Amino acid sequence: MTYILKNEHLEAHFISFGACIVKLIDLKTGINIIVGHEDMETYRKNNPGYMNAIIGRHSGRITDFYLDGKRHEVAKNINGIYQLHGGFKGFNAKEYSVEVGEDWIKFSASAEDGEEGFPGAVAFSVTYRLRGRELHLLYEAEPTKKTILSLTNHAYFNLNGDPEKSILNHELFLNADRYLMLDENFIPYGAALVENTPLDFRKMKPIGQDINANFEQLKIAGGFDHPYLVNRAGEMSHVATLRSPLTGLSLEVHSTEDVVVFYAGNMINEDYRIAGGIRGYKNMALCLETQGVPNSPNIPEFADRNLYGPNEKYTPKTVWKLADN
Ligand code: GAL
Repeated sequence: MTYILKNEHLEAHFISFGACIVKLIDLKTGINIIVGHEDMETYRKNNPGYMNAIIGRHSGRITDFYLDGKRHEVAKNINGIYQLHGGFKGFNAKEYSVEVGEDWIKFSASAEDGEEGFPGAVAFSVTYRLRGRELHLLYEAEPTKKTILSLTNHAYFNLNGDPEKSILNHELFLNADRYLMLDENFIPYGAALVENTPLDFRKMKPIGQDINANFEQLKIAGGFDHPYLVNRAGEMSHVATLRSPLTGLSLEVHSTEDVVVFYAGNMINEDYRIAGGIRGYKNMALCLETQGVPNSPNIPEFADRNLYGPNEKYTPKTVWKLADN
């Protein structure tokens, strides 16, 4: 079953498995800006790219870590080396219960103490709400013990109105002076300045401009696939603006989160069963994943981030704003 939220500007479609957003349609142009799977069965059974799902309890890559002197071994779903996107059965692979209001839909689920190697049981939810031209995403979680929480939404965007045209023509602004460097397994290990590197998006530029630049961090990841540390300007900050010169459609991202992972869809391939019978291909769509600092307990500068206990409610917010001018 698909759940639909609709106002005069936007129409959003969701499914309860993974609390996925499977379509977001700009009603003025009729363009769906989310690239998703052909059918709901694919979301359930084989979603190699975590398409459009909620990710948790830790988004991105993490290795074993210490919390208050105690070592925690994460369930390692990638080659037995590290954990990606919450483990073997992350929050993307849960069936959520659903509540629907006039302009909102709330998906709730839970994880057990020790699940995928993390301490503490956790009850969590994501509420999507339509507000004019904006979709608001509110995450809420309450753990029973001190633990790590960093959820995100793994939506794949393409604003071209035709996903057969890649996102390399999209222009992107990222409000970040620093990013996290990746080791050879793509595991983030420390911050660096974007200045004088191809990773600098502080002035809007086409994604294709520097994606093949001769730069070690781009070679490791096969393109952009990096956590950016958002420059803070109050609680809610402007994180990113994405624009397609073909359609003039733009997407602004605002968030309370510390990080946005800009993933340029480098791994999309023909095994992804894409809606419309289109063959999946590299750079078909991109993700702007607002979340906490990935692998935080293993990076000294960020070791105090993403920590929540029974008395610290987790309530990050992200807003996607669509404009067509
Ligand atoms: C992204 C991640 C990529 C890749 C992708 C799923 O969030 O940064 O490296 O794993 O998810 O295919």
